[in-house]
Amino acid sequence: MPIDDTTREEARVLARRYPVARSALLPMLHLVQSVDGYVSDDGVALCAEVLGLTKAEVASVATFYTMYKREQVGDWLLSVCTNPTCQVAGGQAIHDGYVDALGGHHDAEAGVTVEHAECLGICGDAPVVQVNYEMYGRLSQDEADALLASCRRGQPPASNVSGVVPPVFRAVERELSGIDDGVDAHLAPAAARQAAAANPPAWRSGETDLPVTHPGGDPAGHGGEAFRAAAGLEA
Ligand code: FES
Repeated sequence: MPIDDTTREEARVLARRYPVARSALLPMLHLVQSVDGYVSDDGVALCAEVLGLTKAEVASVATFYTMYKREQVGDWLLSVCTNPTCQVAGGQAIHDGYVDALGGHHDAEAGVTVEHAECLGICGDAPVVQVNYEMYGRLSQDEADALLASCRRGQPPASNVSGVVPPVFRAVERELSGIDDGVDAHLAPAAARQAAAANPPAWRSGETDLPVTHPGGDPAGHGGEAFRAAAGLEA
């Protein structure tokens, strides 16, 4: 599904949540990944257009953080920890076995992508593999192979750490974008409450002196464009 007018409008919704629109870049990159399966050139262009940034500025962020992918990811992203604790427990062998089985790091037909991961923070459960960021720990080689096979069938099991069955990659990316978290419904009433408060908020221009706020959650009363509009504040 290509980036279209719906995605463009959702990107604008994200931008309106923040006092400084460019703060929406990180969730917006997740949004475009939920559409294209990676941060495509069209996705970079969309972020730049909506946020008033250059494509180079957007690309510099997208290439800095490892959760943003510049190449196509399948429905199932297997992140294999190969840092020391996992490596000595078999993590490197799991990674290399996956790459051999897939004939590379990405099998488009199977919808599976494999990547190295730095320490995932649960070294006591080494070796650790994530499927779309859900943890699977203490894996024997056979269990790791079975995990890959289940992903190739499109049916990974529940995480043996969280108990959660991971949804497909694009669905996870949509959740990470926050576009469906319902926060926009709280903007108008929160703005109205704050506008009626004893010390109503005032809009300040510039970037460095703006308090970081969550819409409706900051008693200082500064929010994004949507918040200011609902509160009757001047932009
Ligand atoms: S080294 Fe793998 S989770 Fe820490």
